[in-house]
Amino acid sequence: MKKHVLGISGSPRRNGNTEILLDKALKGAASKGAQTEKFILNEMRFKACQECGGCRYTGICVVDDDMKLIYEKIGRADVVILSSPIFFGSISAQLKAMIDRFQCAWAAKYLLKRPPPSVKKSGAFISAGGSDKEAFFENAKQIIKIFFITLNIKYTKDLFFDKVEEKAEILKNKAALEAAYDLGRSLI
Ligand SMILES: Cc1cc2nc3c(=O)[nH]c(=O)nc-3n(C[C@H](O)[C@H](O)[C@H](O)COP(=O)(O)O)c2cc1C
Repeated sequence: MKKHVLGISGSPRRNGNTEILLDKALKGAASKGAQTEKFILNEMRFKACQECGGCRYTGICVVDDDMKLIYEKIGRADVVILSSPIFFGSISAQLKAMIDRFQCAWAAKYLLKRPPPSVKKSGAFISAGGSDKEAFFENAKQIIKIFFITLNIKYTKDLFFDKVEEKAEILKNKAALEAAYDLGRSLI
């Protein structure tokens, strides 16, 4: 059966460094027969978590917006690849807002003690930053790890590229593009 790979781009810059890398990873996955799909968070309509508590007793978010689609697609995906630029030493606000909206998954797992899905999922994280500070990637990675743990997704691979600032500058780095392609292939 075809594996479903969902790529989620957290960058507000279209066709920027991390989206280019994500595209390469999705191409790599597709080259192994996977069915791929990409979401651009910045073009979706959803708010950050309002901490309304509506999910506490059901594990389901009560807010009606584009997150519904993300919940559905992540639920069905075998592989989830997240990408984000480093913004102020962390992930982008777009990606963090999406992650916070998975408080419903946290409630389902930890408050309602729902069993994890039987299908094993794996996840990867791709990031790029303008500086050479390893600690920024480490910080971003921890957030993604916590997110994946909540969703029972195995944190499988990551790729971090420092000193990448200008739009689409990563295109000059053939090794980076190849590494992203290989990451996608290795997840299938
Ligand atoms: C609001 C903002 C904050 C940023 N903060 C950092 C930072 O803390 N550390 C860093 O290394 N780069 C930082 N950068 C640079 C971006 O991470 C870098 O340009 C990256 O390549 C952008 O990726 P993208 O093209 O996929 O959006 C920042 C850029 C912006 C616009």
